[in-house]
Amino acid sequence: MLCLGIESSCDETALALVEDGRLLDSVLASQADVHALFGGVVPELASREHYRYIGPLFDELMHRCQRQAADIDLVSVARGPGLLGSLLVGVAFAKGLALGLGARFLGLNHLHAHLLAVGLEQKLTFPCLGLLVSGGHTHIYRIEAPWRFLPLGRTLDDAAGEAFDKVGKLLGLAYPGGRLMDALARSGRADAGLFPRPYLDNDNLDFSFSGLKTAAAAYIEHYLDGRWPRPLQCVEDAPQALRDCCASFNLAVVDTLCAKVARALDRQPDLRTLIVAGGVAANTLLRERLKELMRRRGGEILAPGPALCTDNAAMTAYAGWLLGKAGFHHDLRMETIPRGRV
Ligand code: KG4
Ligand code: ZN
Repeated sequence: MLCLGIESSCDETALALVEDGRLLDSVLASQADVHALFGGVVPELASREHYRYIGPLFDELMHRCQRQAADIDLVSVARGPGLLGSLLVGVAFAKGLALGLGARFLGLNHLHAHLLAVGLEQKLTFPCLGLLVSGGHTHIYRIEAPWRFLPLGRTLDDAAGEAFDKVGKLLGLAYPGGRLMDALARSGRADAGLFPRPYLDNDNLDFSFSGLKTAAAAYIEHYLDGRWPRPLQCVEDAPQALRDCCASFNLAVVDTLCAKVARALDRQPDLRTLIVAGGVAANTLLRERLKELMRRRGGEILAPGPALCTDNAAMTAYAGWLLGKAGFHHDLRMETIPRGRV
């Protein structure tokens, strides 16, 4: 079965082809440079950029894979969560293609696709625990099957990636700042007492990162303001105080995520496998700490390589293939679900 995946939920237009569980190729146009000018994603610009790139990217993918459009059996597309205008571009393109080709059509939860993507690199085992940490979401799931995700916890305010990006902005780093903060943290000295581990003093599996962000903002304003020119042009010249702040903030986020993952595993004792996915899953310290956590518990961690962590369409094509193989599909009345339950 040849499955085309289409991803346009935020600021990346991406398409990929998966055949019999194997990635043939993928193409991606990032809009990060456009939105960096505004310090965050501008929804209207995002949908216009998707509209501009989706057709040429499809042609490029088919050319690179030496396939005809008529070979496609299933068109899978992210239906949400995401920006409405952006999702509509991908979904409308997918519906048109499926209708024209007589192919099956399937709308996917973008967050579930993030978590299933690691199946392209490692063997998936169910049931397992899933930690999804991206720019817009922080969720913990019990995953029973590729089509059965039971939400256990979620962020009540900012997502982990959002907290990184907002603090990165205050530090004068280019948007999105998460990856750069990770890089700077590696040469910084973390002070474990500098920032709080938010929202642990309770009995649930939810997160709240806005207080941590406020604590970091106050620290930066009092102690770091004006200490280096902004925006920081050359990362190699980053002062030690900046690296130390990144290391301390990074540690606070990672400690918090790990504490709730450990709590989730305590409550789901039959789970031996943890999948971690989403942009923040590329974080060096988070990967190390979760790996160690699972090793101590005699379990395993499945974490995709960095290119599969951030938004891409290989995950959409692969998740579509998994569900399509199991017989799932939608009719063309399916709608986008920008927010909430998908
Ligand atoms: O999954 P993703 O590409 O897009 C969403 O669906 O949101 O995640 C993007 C997020 C951004 O907030 C970015 O700063 C963060 O992932 N990110 C990182 C790292 N790489 C990307 N955060 C921390 N450490 C990283 N290495
Ligand atoms: Zn994403």
